[in-house]
Amino acid sequence: MNISIVRAESSHIHDCVSAVIHSEIGRVYGMSEDKMRNTLTRAMDSGEVFVAVDPQNHCLGFIRVALRGAFCRFPYLMLIAVNEACRGQGVGNRLLSFFEEIGFGEADRIFLLVSHFNTGARRLYELLGYKSVGVLPDLVIKGVDEILMMKCRPEELPAV
Ligand SMILES: CC(C)(COP(=O)(O)OP(=O)(O)OC[C@H]1O[C@@H](n2cnc3c(N)ncnc32)[C@H](O)[C@@H]1OP(=O)(O)O)[C@@H](O)C(=O)NCCC(=O)NCCS
Repeated sequence: MNISIVRAESSHIHDCVSAVIHSEIGRVYGMSEDKMRNTLTRAMDSGEVFVAVDPQNHCLGFIRVALRGAFCRFPYLMLIAVNEACRGQGVGNRLLSFFEEIGFGEADRIFLLVSHFNTGARRLYELLGYKSVGVLPDLVIKGVDEILMMKCRPEELPAV
C-alpha cells in the first residue's frame, strides 16, 4: 500500500474518531464520538497527531504523540488506531516506524502503554522490539491493567 505520514488536518478528524470508537479500546474505555472528537481536535491543534494517508489523502489511521510525555522526558505514544477496514495491512507498522523516527530523534528510549486485553496490539509492539517494563494495575478502569512498554534506540552498527 502506498502510504504517507503527514500531520493531521481537520479533514481527517472523522476517520480518526471512527478508528478509535470502532475498536475494543473504544468500547472498554467508553469513548463516545463527541468526546473523542473534542479530544482529537485539541490534540490536532497542538500538532500531536499524525495520520497515515493514501495517495487520495484518505486517512487510514493515526498516532498521537507526546514528545516528552513519559516522565516529562521521553517520547510517549498516547494513542494509535487504524481504521477497522485497513487493519492487518501494515498501516500500524508504518505509523509505529514514524513514531520511532521522531521519538529516537529526541531520546534514546520511547514508551507506550497497552491494555492487558489488547493482545493483538501487544504482539505487534513485541515484534517491533518493545519490552514490557511494568504493569500499572487498574490505572484507568478497575480490572484493566496497563502494561508499560519501552523500546531502546537500536545500537548503530560500527563502521567497518
Ligand atoms: C493495533 C493496531 C493499531 C495495529 O494496526 P494494523 O494496521 O492492524 O497493524 P499492522 O497491519 O501493521 O500489523 C498487524 C498485523 O498485520 C500483519 N501485517 C503487517 N503488514 C501486513 C501486510 N502488508 N499485509 C497483511 N498483514 C500484515 C502484522 O504482521 C501483524 O500480524 P499479527 O496478526 O501477527 O500481529 C490496530 O489493530 C488498531 O487500530 N486497533 C484498534 C485500536 C488499538 O487497539 N490501538 C492500540 C492501543 S495501545
